[in-house]
Amino acid sequence: MLDRPAAVTIPLAPMLDEKALARALSGRHFIGGSLVAARGGKTFPVVNPATGLEIATAAEGDAADVDAAVQDAAVAQKAWARMPARKRGALVAACAGVIREHVEELARLIALETGKALRTESRVEANTVADVLEFFGGLGSELKGESVPFAPDVLSVTVREPLGVVGAIIPWNVPMLLMALKIAPALVAGNTVVVKSAEEAPLAVLRICELMARVLPPGAFNMLSGFGPECGAPLVAHPLVRKVTFTGSVEVGRIVAKEAAAKLIPVTLELGGKSPMIIFSDCDFERTVTGAVTSMRFTRQGQSCTAASRIYVERPIFDRFVAALAARVDAMVMGDPLDEATDIGTIISPEQFAKVEGFIAEGAATPGATARACSAMPADPALRKGLFIRPHIFTGLSNDSRLVQQEIFGPVTCVFPFDDAEAVLAEANDSEYGLAASVWTNNLKVGLALAHRLEAGLVQINQNLVVQANLSYGGVKSSGLGKEASLESMLEHFTHKKTIMVNYAE
Ligand code: NAI
Ligand code: MG
Repeated sequence: MLDRPAAVTIPLAPMLDEKALARALSGRHFIGGSLVAARGGKTFPVVNPATGLEIATAAEGDAADVDAAVQDAAVAQKAWARMPARKRGALVAACAGVIREHVEELARLIALETGKALRTESRVEANTVADVLEFFGGLGSELKGESVPFAPDVLSVTVREPLGVVGAIIPWNVPMLLMALKIAPALVAGNTVVVKSAEEAPLAVLRICELMARVLPPGAFNMLSGFGPECGAPLVAHPLVRKVTFTGSVEVGRIVAKEAAAKLIPVTLELGGKSPMIIFSDCDFERTVTGAVTSMRFTRQGQSCTAASRIYVERPIFDRFVAALAARVDAMVMGDPLDEATDIGTIISPEQFAKVEGFIAEGAATPGATARACSAMPADPALRKGLFIRPHIFTGLSNDSRLVQQEIFGPVTCVFPFDDAEAVLAEANDSEYGLAASVWTNNLKVGLALAHRLEAGLVQINQNLVVQANLSYGGVKSSGLGKEASLESMLEHFTHKKTIMVNYAE
């Protein structure tokens, strides 16, 4: 038996005082159904990016914490896998109910720790978590096998079996939702999970652990906070972890894939993007301008792997479009993430802030390029240390510019004119990435032809929604491996197929 650090408990009724909740969650992992300190006793600060003030600490996990969590998950997995699949699904769906009761609380907490605006982003994310849990919760009976015609007097069937303990590594941009996309299918399929949260956003996901523990057995779902090399890497490397699912940078995705290859375990990777939006003159103009604001995820400060960070506009409407987009973004309000009036909050961290500012400076210094800074910095003195960056719309850059080829992960989009469909297709596909794309036209012949030829995992015509439950989501090229959010993702990525044969010949 492992020695166990003392656990703390926090009231489960919704806590709408986000600062008090952040403090209550301080310095804890979630292992075996309890909030526990790191074995080494270390913590690191969690900072509100809108003020620069420390709001909590997080437990700093290491290999010993990983081992404790994985051992508990491995024990829990045996009983969890024996539970009928529909019952597991019903429990995951019941978690959705608990999350729904806490949407407001979770939304306030995630706004506090990530700087994402409450109305436009944080509340939406909390609701979507419940939606994803509900969706996967209904899929227990889909864990079906087949009968295979092999030979007379031989019954040959396949059954779907869980993989064991799943290691899930998540980023900070939409941590609750990206976690739900991993844990819900993994759990319904009969696996147990150890999540490594992102160092910038460990709190709201930790609160979700507590809420789900009202419903799930101890050990089914565990969470560690900590840094990549010290806590993420040992999770991937742990011998009892039989599958890894990761969302984050291409760079770390490659490290994770290499380690998984050494262990010969399957891996799902959701990595970056540089998603093109292609706009033809015959589009519904106003709807497309609105679509560009949504597509670029300006309300999330562009911190999205599907952000439409390359916008190609047919020449006859190019000038009009750029002016209309700039005017629309100008009208958006940057400010306190917890204020209902705010459309746009802050960048997550000083590192990301410096990276985005570097790209903007480089673009502004590029001969022939024009930078349009939109919206206005917040006036509130309490926010003067906040990591706010005005949204930028660039024109006049060439397709080989670093701003056009690399993922900025900030509120920066580049707009280009084009003259014909072949040329714009070539430019759109001239990218290391292949996550998402959208085409805006009333000519469905043109739209569908491009949809088939765009190198992306998801192409939308006349809309550009974020990831949705029931629709397979995942990229090609450097954008990743495997799919999330769908039935296919549960079956293909969280189970293996076993063949069982019975010879009943006399
Ligand atoms: P990152 O890839 O370093 O971090 C993502 C997660 O991986 C975090 O939980 C981190 O602790 C963990 N990690 C880091 N090193 C690890 C290792 N050696 N082994 C196991 N886990 C490890 O991403 P970061 O530094 O937060 O952002 C850098 C860039 O990555 C962003 O600017 C953006 O371009 C991209 N990114 C893409 C995301 C997406 O949704 N696809 C999400 C976050 C970042
Ligand atoms: Mg990193």
